Amino acid sequence: MIADFDADFHADFHADFPGDFHGDPGPGTGRRAPRADFVSDAPRLSLNGQWRFLLSGTAAGTGTGLPDPALDDSGWERITVPSHWVLEGHGRPLYTNTAYPFPIDPPYLPDDNPTGDYRLRFDLPAGWPAARDVLRFQGVDSCGTVWLNGELLGHSKGSRLPFEFDVTGRLRERGNVLAVRVHRWSSGSYLEDQDMWWLPGIFRDVELLSRPEGGIDDFTVHASYRDGAGTLLVTADAPGLVELPALGLAIPTGEQVTVPGVRPWSAEDPHLYRGTLTAVGETIDLAVGFRTVEIAGGRLLVNGRPILMRGVNRHEHDPDRGRSLDRATMIRDIELMKRHNVNAVRTSHYPPHPEFLRLCDEYGLWVVDECDIETHGFIYAGWEGNPPAEPMWRDALLDRARRMVERDKNHPSVIIWSLGNESGSGAAFGDIEEWIRERDPTRPLHYERDPSYRHSDFYSLMYPAQDTLERIGQREEETPAGVEPGSPDDVRRRELPFLLCEYAHAMGNGPGSLVDYQRILESYERFCGAFVWEWIDHGLAGRDALGRRYYRHGGDIDASPNGERFCLDGLLFPDRTPSPGLLELSKAIEPVAMEVAGGELVVTSKYDFAALDHLAFRWFVESDGVRGASGTLSVPHCPARSSVRVPLPSAEAGGEGETWLTVEAVLAEANRWAPAGHVIAFTQTHLGTTTRRRPAPAPAPAPAAPPAVGGRAGEVRLGAAVFDGRTGRLARLGDVELDGPVLDVWRAPIENDHGLGGANALAADWEAVGIDRFLHRTAALERPDERTLVVRGRSGPATRTLGFRTTYTYRLHDDGTLHLRIDADPVGDWDDTAYGHLTVTPPRMGTRFALPGGYTDVTWFGLGPGESYADSRAAARVGRFRSSIDALQTPYVVPQENGNHVGTRWLEVSGDGLPTLRVDGEPHVDFTARRWTGEALRAARHPHDLTDSGRVWLNLDHGQQGIGSASCGPALPERYRLKVRPYTWSMTLAAVRP
Ligand code: GAL
Repeated sequence: MIADFDADFHADFHADFPGDFHGDPGPGTGRRAPRADFVSDAPRLSLNGQWRFLLSGTAAGTGTGLPDPALDDSGWERITVPSHWVLEGHGRPLYTNTAYPFPIDPPYLPDDNPTGDYRLRFDLPAGWPAARDVLRFQGVDSCGTVWLNGELLGHSKGSRLPFEFDVTGRLRERGNVLAVRVHRWSSGSYLEDQDMWWLPGIFRDVELLSRPEGGIDDFTVHASYRDGAGTLLVTADAPGLVELPALGLAIPTGEQVTVPGVRPWSAEDPHLYRGTLTAVGETIDLAVGFRTVEIAGGRLLVNGRPILMRGVNRHEHDPDRGRSLDRATMIRDIELMKRHNVNAVRTSHYPPHPEFLRLCDEYGLWVVDECDIETHGFIYAGWEGNPPAEPMWRDALLDRARRMVERDKNHPSVIIWSLGNESGSGAAFGDIEEWIRERDPTRPLHYERDPSYRHSDFYSLMYPAQDTLERIGQREEETPAGVEPGSPDDVRRRELPFLLCEYAHAMGNGPGSLVDYQRILESYERFCGAFVWEWIDHGLAGRDALGRRYYRHGGDIDASPNGERFCLDGLLFPDRTPSPGLLELSKAIEPVAMEVAGGELVVTSKYDFAALDHLAFRWFVESDGVRGASGTLSVPHCPARSSVRVPLPSAEAGGEGETWLTVEAVLAEANRWAPAGHVIAFTQTHLGTTTRRRPAPAPAPAPAAPPAVGGRAGEVRLGAAVFDGRTGRLARLGDVELDGPVLDVWRAPIENDHGLGGANALAADWEAVGIDRFLHRTAALERPDERTLVVRGRSGPATRTLGFRTTYTYRLHDDGTLHLRIDADPVGDWDDTAYGHLTVTPPRMGTRFALPGGYTDVTWFGLGPGESYADSRAAARVGRFRSSIDALQTPYVVPQENGNHVGTRWLEVSGDGLPTLRVDGEPHVDFTARRWTGEALRAARHPHDLTDSGRVWLNLDHGQQGIGSASCGPALPERYRLKVRPYTWSMTLAAVRP
């Protein structure tokens, strides 16, 4: 039994009046014992709605009069409950990442402690039973003290956990006054240093529950599965009858039955046996999922089979409502996860709203339910005084674990308890472990941050490099620092399954290498799952000076310490639009692999339980992106984790250009999270290539002049091409006006180019040597023959010797098109530079052109439709795509390089009334097109800072380095970088239509 709080300790605290608990390290007072969250037909009154509210600057709040029913609060503000007051116009949200926004002086808090006083007047509905009454708060951040009709009920900390008070006999039919004092900072804040916005307030539901006398208050569903049979036992604190009609079951609580032929629950087939638990005065909804979780042979098994979680870390976030999410938003998250092949969620870093777990049961997601514990900020104290290691905090920490387990224990989706995040080590984790193991021996435990892993059933890390992960797969990892090689901890850890609790930091443009990680994760039995960091960008809605909506990060709030942009690291943009990273993840983790081998399609199910019968397979052939034959494939029954072979459709490589066969595995029928036809997986195979005819160039504006330096003074002409005679840059191609090429070896840094804490800070090095500000010198224009122009020059930055010697060779083809070959040879000091000792590689090898602003669209054949990079190109398909130039921009919340397209065979840039510019890669180019330069991208703080420059900037590149995820993670692997070496790339340019 855990004492509610240590009274002696509490006595040491000076209190303004009875009810000032915020600095007391205890978890709460006066509360009921934690219990399961369930839905029943017992009367329930939602107390959500408009409350009276007043914000004060200190913990004294509005004073001692708050609980007084007679207090005149008519002059107070109104606030919506649930909400966070800082998002409702009172004070401001803060984002500090790891830092505590108060001195590390546990358990005390500074005098400046914004405190929200809330009051609600309510009547009981007619017919409210005279039974037991319970007042429930689902979540109050960070500490709530509650009075009803002038009487102190108690207080609670643990922001993301419910608490209840028994208010039997304390209610009136009319005119009840509920008063709640909420402190922004409390002792509980020391345990809640998660990397997220600090958002105070009553942010989850408030409810009054009528509890039948003699009825069930709490119950536990034990529903296991073995060899086709389900075993059910429901225990409860009062007798009841358990009925599951589909199984013909009607048994009393406390009686165990084993039923053969049960359909087990899994994330892939979330079969719930719905029924009821009938007790005195109440019928409770039951949603029973039979499943058994165990660790055997160093693997995580569910229902006797190994599983691989393809997961994401989900914070509760909405750009307007913060962590106060409605059910529709929860459903939206789950739909988006399921549609993108995500099958697991780590509820980083606190238990979510209980409704979310009900939905996970229904839709099918494996859940790692994480306790609301993080003490990361003790890093700034060298971990001195870390709460899990200090007896003073033991009750508070245990209380949190207990409230999580009791609330969520009946969810089949919850298969693992996580003891918390980034809280170092300490005896409290042993106490928590012991308590949970005794209370719920059916689920394994996870804790990542204690290198002994003594309290964890998993070995676990965050952000390992790929080779580290390989060694872990082989159980040959290095012994963690602080652990004696060969010690019992070392030996035990090596036998544990491995759970990658965070990887692939999705900050800004990224993450890269998702396919690489997935290959490793699928290669070793030890791996049971991996969770991308993280699901959604924590951007908060704001309005710019013109009233346009944008999303704010920590740096948009003038406060210190400040975590700046580090809260923008999700696979969804703040408005829940999937980012290119989510599309790439969806492809990397697709549960069906298809590969053409020996004239057959090999279809492999990577599901752990499901056969492929719910999928239909359709194919089509495209030549140069133009649709040809199509049909469906009949794929024989293919059980989980097995393969079948299917003859390929007899599709000829008939059309002109490159012919590709695409096969898609789609949902055969609509289900609750996606319509029929939703693509689960796809593959493409190159069938052959015939010569592609290029569109003929439009007639040249002036007669193709004989080889000449002619026309206007200083112009050079080559067919329909006109060059500036001094710079050698193209000024016109037929009727297309343009300015370029200019060597471009830089990109507007993406978040991953900045690295983390000084490590992998590529962008800083680029800027130090001046890669971002090359100056260009044209050395010579040569005409070796009538059809050829050679422009020689050198590009490099001020201050430095490094750069590239460039040769642009133009050749006029017979058909009037212009062939351009670019040779760029490195010169100067790139490696261990004489000044600064930097070794730098260029992020891009490319050429930039400026076009008139009237161009609006790009059509291309190559990889698309979304952006792609060397290490993030699996989601892109070979095809013909068209997009407006505006829509080619990916609106990262913080502007940065985006919109690249690798493997482009040809593209056409068009605009009303303008001749079309056609570019054919020889064979491929990367292209990017936008209305602003890379320099403008770098300078912009928000998307609305980007303004149309009046021109279109077109990059036609040899390539760009990968995107990686070094904003929190390993360096970009060498193979995705561009070396300092000579480069050559070619393309053909033409103005094709007037
Ligand atoms: C982890 C942490 C997360 C988040 C992430 C970086 O260390 O657990 O909460 O901070 O790094 O975004």
